[in-house]
Amino acid sequence: MTTIWNASLYDQKHDFVSKFGGSLVDLLAPQKKESILDVGCGTGDLVHEIAALGAHVQGIDASNDMIIGAQQKYPDITFHTMDATVLHMTKQFDAVFSNAALHWMKQQDKVIQNIYSALKQGGRFVAEMGGHGNISSIVWALEKSMEELKLSYIEEYFPWYFPTLEEYQSKLEDVGFTVEMITLYERPTPLQGEDGLHNWLVMFSNNMLQHLSETEKEQIYDKCEELLKPKLYQDHQWIADYCRLRFVAIKK
Ligand code: BEZ
Repeated sequence: MTTIWNASLYDQKHDFVSKFGGSLVDLLAPQKKESILDVGCGTGDLVHEIAALGAHVQGIDASNDMIIGAQQKYPDITFHTMDATVLHMTKQFDAVFSNAALHWMKQQDKVIQNIYSALKQGGRFVAEMGGHGNISSIVWALEKSMEELKLSYIEEYFPWYFPTLEEYQSKLEDVGFTVEMITLYERPTPLQGEDGLHNWLVMFSNNMLQHLSETEKEQIYDKCEELLKPKLYQDHQWIADYCRLRFVAIKK
């Protein structure tokens, strides 16, 4: 299944994705002239940040719309539309970086294997993704809304992979990585404005609701707001229940 991304909506209302990713760049600690690949780079903000530190960086994303957005913003940086499950790079990198992208990739074993192959010996894979428990309230509300509105829930339309720490660590070790650091932590994430949850749902719940009409989708958004208000809305602020899995793995 292909996810269709709206790059301008992403930049207008969801730029917290790259803002929160900022400290992940510190963990990557890019060195001058190092070659770095950003997997799932979106509209390229973190690629730009890494490039500004003097590394030779390129970004890939499966969404052509995101890559067009990235190229327009940062014309001096190399971006390619490329799916990490069929990654084919002509050279190996000192580091592979990824923020808030891996959980969209269902064929995770292939992705990890491809990233391993794309790294030089001694290279590092530094990433953060949604981990076990991520947005569990929002997922619950989406399912419950469909049930209450008597709309069908189609399991294979669930687009995300939120692994436990143990599960992901073994996947990394199975392909040959040495896991230097791995952590799963809660990171409550403020959503912009009174319509924050509504906008989040419009942007990110497309796959799950793809079989429904626009009117039915609006009913779901309203129902989710009603169900989630007691839990995720405080002082005029929506806060999404994000849990992040962050790690550094080395190709020894
Ligand atoms: C995340 O970054 O955790 C995420 C974003 C959108 C949908 C699902 C998860």
